[in-house]
Amino acid sequence: MSLLAVRNLVIDYAETRALDGADLDLARGETLGLVGESGSGKSTLGSAVGRLLPTTARRTEGEVLVAGEPVFDLPAREVRKLRKKHLGFVFQDPIASLDPTMRVGNQLRLVLGRGGDVRFHLGRVKLDDPRVLRAYPHQLSGGMAQRVAIAMAMATSPELLVADEPTAALDTQVREEVLNVVFSLAADAGTSILWLSHDLPAVARRCDQVAVMYGGRVVERGPAREVLGRPVHPYTAALAGSAPAAAGHGVRLEPVPGRPPVLTGPSPGCAFAPRCAFAEERCDHERPQPVLVREQEVLCHRAAELSEAETPREVTA
Ligand SMILES: Nc1ncnc2c1ncn2[C@@H]1O[C@H](COP(=O)(O)OP(=O)(O)O)[C@@H](O)[C@H]1O
Ligand code: SF4
Ligand SMILES: [Mg+2]
Repeated sequence: MSLLAVRNLVIDYAETRALDGADLDLARGETLGLVGESGSGKSTLGSAVGRLLPTTARRTEGEVLVAGEPVFDLPAREVRKLRKKHLGFVFQDPIASLDPTMRVGNQLRLVLGRGGDVRFHLGRVKLDDPRVLRAYPHQLSGGMAQRVAIAMAMATSPELLVADEPTAALDTQVREEVLNVVFSLAADAGTSILWLSHDLPAVARRCDQVAVMYGGRVVERGPAREVLGRPVHPYTAALAGSAPAAAGHGVRLEPVPGRPPVLTGPSPGCAFAPRCAFAEERCDHERPQPVLVREQEVLCHRAAELSEAETPREVTA
């Protein structure tokens, strides 16, 4: 059984359709990078895992199963229990995710409960300076605050850590240190990671699996090395360029020509069609269904023929 299974998830914010039938699976102990341009639905999907969506969001269809439990169909009390038992979250802005009125040590004590060793947990994220315990969040640097947030999220050894671009606001060196902390702590604890990211080379280096989002759907997923090294979906190919795994750390996704869609309802066909150099007539009005190519699951009508290309394709839409 998957630790996390997302099935045909549709989430609407008033007039905006943020997820348009997203599917995802994550096994225990695995790391999965969820990538895609801004607005593709990564944060909505990440928050949906813990039913942490804003009150304006509505689950219109589909389900999210965490350890087999249907997150959206549980009473609120059960969801809180499930979060506590299985899940940890870190977000992009660490200072906003901490309580500004409480010293760091006290916040950690609240999470750990009586008997919890605060220094041990700060030591695990390489924060050994005792002054950190007495500091308020605004007195910490971004990198330190993110380590505190990671220490809190990992203190209970969750089975799944959802990390929503936790390093996006940090500079390159600090980013690498924070990533080392997250991935080594998770590996030691057997924690799975769902890592939402713009940083494709880092995902290629760190994650077992990758899922590429476009227009609120996961359009290609599979082993990271395969998907990014030999992409099948034209959007993945455009994102990945020719050799993402070889690119330097911190290189951002190359912008794909054209604009991503803002959906107001179900996409009638493939949401990538207006930007796709391979689009044909049916792409505008037939929704692609998953096709298995090697170990990759691809949402593209032309997946089978495009996969026969030996080298990754450059896409110029
Ligand atoms: N709180 C919100 N209210 C209204 N629309 C939202 C909200 N959050 C996200 N959206 C919209 O949902 C879509 C997906 O956004 P998001 O999940 O934040 O994507 P990503 O994390 O990939 O940038 C976008 O069109 C975005 O504008
Ligand atoms: S379904 Fe059509 S438009 Fe969409 S990616 Fe495939 S070829 Fe391009
Ligand atoms: Mg986001």
